[in-house]
Amino acid sequence: MNEAIDRVVEQFRTLLTEQIARTEKIERGAQAKNFAAMDKIVIGVAGGDGIGPIIMRETRRVMDALLADEIASGRVEIRDIDGLTIENRLALHQSVPADTLAAIKSCDVLLKGPTTTPKGGTMESANVTLRRELDLYANVRPVAVPEEGIDWIFYRENTEGEYVLGSRGVEIPGKLAMDFKVTTVPGTKRIARAAFEYAKNNGKKSVAIVTKANIMKKTDGSFSALCHEVAADYPGIEAEDWYIDIMTANLVNPAIRSRFQVFLLPNLYGDIITDEAAQIQGGVGTAGSANIGDEYAMFEAIHGSAPRMIEEGLGEYANPSSLMRALEMLLRHIALTDRAEKLSRALNICCESEKKVVVTGDRSGATCAAFADYVLDTLKKL
Ligand code: IPM
Ligand code: MG
Repeated sequence: MNEAIDRVVEQFRTLLTEQIARTEKIERGAQAKNFAAMDKIVIGVAGGDGIGPIIMRETRRVMDALLADEIASGRVEIRDIDGLTIENRLALHQSVPADTLAAIKSCDVLLKGPTTTPKGGTMESANVTLRRELDLYANVRPVAVPEEGIDWIFYRENTEGEYVLGSRGVEIPGKLAMDFKVTTVPGTKRIARAAFEYAKNNGKKSVAIVTKANIMKKTDGSFSALCHEVAADYPGIEAEDWYIDIMTANLVNPAIRSRFQVFLLPNLYGDIITDEAAQIQGGVGTAGSANIGDEYAMFEAIHGSAPRMIEEGLGEYANPSSLMRALEMLLRHIALTDRAEKLSRALNICCESEKKVVVTGDRSGATCAAFADYVLDTLKKL
């Protein structure tokens, strides 16, 4: 037993040393890109697995239509990224194969379809690898239900917490297993700053800091304290403390939920509560997700690859609106604000006010392609 403990302690030393090095890297910082001033922007496109290639095919038609002028003039290049399929990743036993990662890094931004994550084993989720390798620290997820006055935006920490060592826990077989959760000072401050900057620039009056600091005293305790430190630079914006359990209840309480504006959370709580929020908006097929870092950014659907839909032959009935919302966020990020606004208006018409073509995820609804036709027609009329 002592030998097993020594082995685990040695593993822990390695993890700690690596995390300290990561902290120092964050402290050195990176320069954010100024897209408006760039002569050329390369958008990488990776379909992923399951329903991914189908919803990407249809979202791509919308993107090609919206960016026709920029593509023709060469200001925007759309670059296909191969190799992010589960078959290829399993064959190479790499969550993101090295040449695929290099191809992604040669782009300025990435539009990504969902990728399947093997359960158990040691292979890390491609999302987690990409978020770490590209240092995409802010996971930004807007959710709106206009008729209820709900206009939420989630700032989920995206590179640490429960995820950063999620595939590197320790185990003493037959006895116990332990995973680790990491909260660093610069990692927390940068996501807090992103959330408060958003609040300031968009006239929001409060930010809800959501943790379980009564139980996870070190990690969540420090997350909350650091967020309050950052909040001190934003007078006029209230920093509220909430626990994740009651917040999940609040979101299904119509009496109070519309009063929340900006949410700021550690990684895992952010993962869980944004699925709940998306469901309130109309389903996980409806919400977009942006993964933002200083150098790179990746935009994706909030949901997974839905292998069950493929097994049941329902892939063509998948809802592409989540990926289209992600495209809207991508366009805004690369400073093509007018195009983002146009797509936003079209999606609001197609998904909320008019709803002439409705995707239900099965044969009772329209196909993914029919919905994309509807969005393209709507865009033409704007
Ligand atoms: C998400 C997803 C991912 C996550 C999975 C696919 C690894 O659920 O983007 O919310 O857990 O972050
Ligand atoms: Mg999730």
